[in-house]
Amino acid sequence: MYTIIVATDNRGCIGKDGVLPWHNKEDLQWFKQNTENNIVVFGRKTWENLPNKILPNRITVVLSNQPWFDVMPMQDQDKLIITNKLEEIEYISKKLQKKVFICGGEQIYKLFLRENLVSKILMTQLYGYYSGDTFFPLEYLRFAKPKVVCESSDFNILEYTRHGY
Ligand SMILES: NC(=O)c1ccc[n+]([C@@H]2O[C@H](COP(=O)([O-])OP(=O)(O)OC[C@H]3O[C@@H](n4cnc5c(N)ncnc54)[C@H](OP(=O)(O)O)[C@@H]3O)[C@@H](O)[C@H]2O)c1
Repeated sequence: MYTIIVATDNRGCIGKDGVLPWHNKEDLQWFKQNTENNIVVFGRKTWENLPNKILPNRITVVLSNQPWFDVMPMQDQDKLIITNKLEEIEYISKKLQKKVFICGGEQIYKLFLRENLVSKILMTQLYGYYSGDTFFPLEYLRFAKPKVVCESSDFNILEYTRHGY
């Protein structure tokens, strides 16, 4: 079971034109703090727009159905894995004894929620509304109970844990 980490506005917006609709330094720090020394999973579209294709001190897994052979220099092959097999994530996590964070975007959040592979959601809720084209599927929050982890003037951070975890 994996943890989703996501930032949304008040109506679940997460992205615009392939990138985040906002720049929030504190939230990026929260992302780093949680995911460091663990495994981060991105959809290909989100990953292609990341300034760093391999995040420092993390194993980056990219989900894609396209052939990506030979795109990675040999020295990076233990830090970046591009695959379309969800079982590979479980395998790496067990082998390396590391936690898995599902880091978006919309298609990837929906995929893991639909497959029942998520036990926790760490959600930064930015106050207000942003213009965007990708959204978190808020309907999945119905089966989880939230706890406020942090409150600030711009956002709060909620932790949703699935019943039984
Ligand atoms: N606010 C946040 O916390 C947050 C976090 C992350 C992303 N975002 C935003 O979300 C937006 C992107 O979301 P998106 O839904 O358009 O794209 P996405 O989820 O990042 O990537 C979609 C791609 O993932 C691959 N994929 C999807 N399902 C797959 C499967 N079952 N097996 C293998 N590969 C699969 C496909 O890649 P191929 O086409 O290569 O096959 C697909 O085109 C961006 O604006 C980004 O900034 C926001």
